[in-house]
Amino acid sequence: MEFTSKRYDFRNKDADYASLADELNGLLAGEPDLIANAANTAALLFDALPNINWVGFYFLRKGAGGESELVVGPFQGKPACVRIPLGKGVCGTAAATRKTIVVMDVHAFPGHIACDAASQSEIVVPLLEGDTLLGVLDIDSPGLARFDDADRRGLERLAAIFVTASRGPAARSLSG
Ligand code: SME
Repeated sequence: MEFTSKRYDFRNKDADYASLADELNGLLAGEPDLIANAANTAALLFDALPNINWVGFYFLRKGAGGESELVVGPFQGKPACVRIPLGKGVCGTAAATRKTIVVMDVHAFPGHIACDAASQSEIVVPLLEGDTLLGVLDIDSPGLARFDDADRRGLERLAAIFVTASRGPAARSLSG
C-alpha cells in the first residue's frame, strides 16, 4: 500500500496548504450544496495529502432520542463508524470543545474510536459557522505524529473555506 507520494510533498507546508486553499476555493466556487462540497473537499484532500488513509466529514445531527450526535458524511477511505456521541472519541471531543485536536498516537488517546486499524495518528478540525457547530473534518494517517501545527493552521483554513462556500446566504443545508 502506498500512502506517501501524492500531489504535494508538503516540505513547505504553509505554501502547499496555500496552494490547496486556492484549489479548494476554485472547486467549491458557486456551489452552495453542503453534501456536494463535502464530497469534493474529501476527494481533493485524499488526492493531495501525502501519508493519509482516511479523510471525511462528520455532521452534527439529532439522534433518535433528540440528543445531538455526529453522523458520518462524505469521505474517502475505508467504511467508517456512522454515529459518534458528542464528547466521545477524537471527533466527539473536538466537537464538544470546538477546538482542533492533533493526536500524535491514537492508541494513547483515551476513548479513541478505531475505524481503520491502519490509523496511527489523526487530526480533527471543528466546522464552525460563527458560534454554530456544523460538524468536524477528520483526517487519519497510517504514520505516527503525521500532523503538526502547520497542518492544523492549513486544515483550519480549508475548513473555513468549506463552511463559507457551503453556508453562505444562498447555501442549501442538509435539510434542503
Ligand atoms: N477515530 C475517530 C473516529 C472516526 S474514524 O477515524 C474515521 C474518533 O476517535 O473519533
